[in-house]
Amino acid sequence: MAEYDRERVGRLFDDIADADTSTMQEVALYDGNIPRIAAQMALERLELSTGDVLLDVGTGTGDTAIAAAHNCRSVIGIDISMKSLERARMKAEQKGIHNLVFAYGAFEDPCAGVKLASYGITKILAVYSLHHLPDPLKKQSLVTLAGLLRRPGRMVIGDIMFFEEPHGHSEAFDEVGYDGGETDFPARAGHLMEWLEQTGARVHVEQVHPLVGVVTADYRQ
Ligand SMILES: C[S@@+](CC[C@H](N)C(=O)[O-])C[C@H]1O[C@@H](n2cnc3c(N)ncnc32)[C@H](O)[C@@H]1O
Repeated sequence: MAEYDRERVGRLFDDIADADTSTMQEVALYDGNIPRIAAQMALERLELSTGDVLLDVGTGTGDTAIAAAHNCRSVIGIDISMKSLERARMKAEQKGIHNLVFAYGAFEDPCAGVKLASYGITKILAVYSLHHLPDPLKKQSLVTLAGLLRRPGRMVIGDIMFFEEPHGHSEAFDEVGYDGGETDFPARAGHLMEWLEQTGARVHVEQVHPLVGVVTADYRQ
């Protein structure tokens, strides 16, 4: 079993960003594949309104953050891949979207490159990013993120998460975007639910696939 190595994951996504020559015009955000369905559902579960300030953790090359920016006051996208962030900034520029900030930041250290406390974050999103962390770091990061969120607030996670034993679904690994444990360390859906409840949230879990789901955590006033 491989071990978590944040620098290695950052380099992996730097390389993917380098190879990404798509533009927003070419990318269909919701083209029916399972990761895209999870992203779409997560975006919908945010129920964004014009007053919302969204933090997108593991924003990648920014497609989900850019889609969200149309429906809220502002978006802060953080990621550990500098090349992905560069690409995200370029896409936002090309689209003429200016209520977006992209900055370095990790689940484990979200404020590393941006003073998040000054933004008044009302919603948090993590699409296909949290699964890169091992469980103890996931749990710790969820506590940190919950602490950055205003009340009332909402956190939504759309990601690989296990509702069933993964070895029974090995033929679906590619389809759901799971690398079998090389750099992906998905949690059990029940554990994510439990950890979020421990941060004081009311939690709702939806299964997209036996290996993929969307978790919505609500924090009351
Ligand atoms: C599969 S991409 C998802 C991108 C984006 N959320 C989307 O919906 O298109 C996963 C992203 O998570 C980022 N990531 C991985 N580990 C991270 C960490 N510890 N903190 C922040 N981002 C991380 C990667 O750099 C990568 O950009």
